[in-house]
Amino acid sequence: MDTKQKTIGVLTSGGDAPGMNAAVRAVVRAAIKKGMRVIGIKRGYNGLINGDLIEMNMRSVSDIIHRGGTILYTARCLEFKEEAGLQKAKQTCLDAGIDGIVAIGGDGSFRGAADLSVRGIPCVGIPGTIDNDISCTDYTIGYDTAMNTAMEMVDKIRDTAQSHDRCSVVEVMGRRAGYIALNTGIACGATYILVPEIEVDVEDMINKIKEAQKLGKQNFIILVAEGIGGSVELAKRIEEETGIESRATILGHVQRGGNPTVRDRVLASQLAYRAVELLNDGIGNRVVGIQRDEVVDFDILEALKMKKEFPMELYKIANDISF
Ligand code: ADP
Ligand code: F6P
Repeated sequence: MDTKQKTIGVLTSGGDAPGMNAAVRAVVRAAIKKGMRVIGIKRGYNGLINGDLIEMNMRSVSDIIHRGGTILYTARCLEFKEEAGLQKAKQTCLDAGIDGIVAIGGDGSFRGAADLSVRGIPCVGIPGTIDNDISCTDYTIGYDTAMNTAMEMVDKIRDTAQSHDRCSVVEVMGRRAGYIALNTGIACGATYILVPEIEVDVEDMINKIKEAQKLGKQNFIILVAEGIGGSVELAKRIEEETGIESRATILGHVQRGGNPTVRDRVLASQLAYRAVELLNDGIGNRVVGIQRDEVVDFDILEALKMKKEFPMELYKIANDISF
């Protein structure tokens, strides 16, 4: 019987997201509870390549469940996409006795996890990104917090837009995904929402503003996803074509920080727990997620091929009730 104590590594990779710390905490605690040893890997795959490792114990993850950011730091590591980088990372694992890795991040991080799994180090991915652009899960860690932050910001912008009878164009994060824009838009009563998943029709937007104006509306919020961009120009165009004084605000990185919401903390804990169970059973090359409130897991490459449908019905609702 193999009695060797299992050792797992945990890292955070790509853009940080609120709730990553809650996930790190749950990985460490669940693994130690199961009798495993845990090593923290600093700055994503960079730490694996450079051997930047730290022994974790129950206390090293105290007082972090409520904090944004990641105590393990994060990075976008180009070297890990190359064979030489992958081999260095594998050697670090062999030297440190790391039998498996939990990688918390987005789709790029999962590609890296799949590449390392194929080379003999079982990895499990946990979706952590504010964009919610991971197809195998209904929610990613950080998304709920980012939406709530954006909503609070837009509420404040609305106060001043209302006082001045203005139109405020607000740009939220999401390079290739409009989930934050769509949901914040509904929650804040945006007159129009522009997302990368739907072809931009500026004329349609201007007509909608004019129509609402005829119905007596005096202030307007337009939600724009980062992937569409051009918010300053859009505000100018709205002002020129409607006569409504307009301003643009780009919310930026405020959306990536702050204390995670209940939902993100619970999700992070659930997903981390499953990830540890998988590695404890010797199963790698998986990504975990949540679907209809059930924790699920998939082969990483299968998960990366999945497509997430943009919720068109929700987009229609947003449009139909915003006058
Ligand atoms: P983000 O969307 O915030 O950039 P990702 O999780 O997609 O977050 O992180 C991308 C990072 O994943 C890359 O910078 C790199 O460090 C890492 N990575 C490792 N292997 C790969 C790979 N094969 N393809 C893409 N990214 C990879
Ligand atoms: O993937 C998360 C995200 O915040 C995107 O919404 C955004 O496009 C990107 O990361 C910005 O990344 P950074 O400013 O860290 O390069």
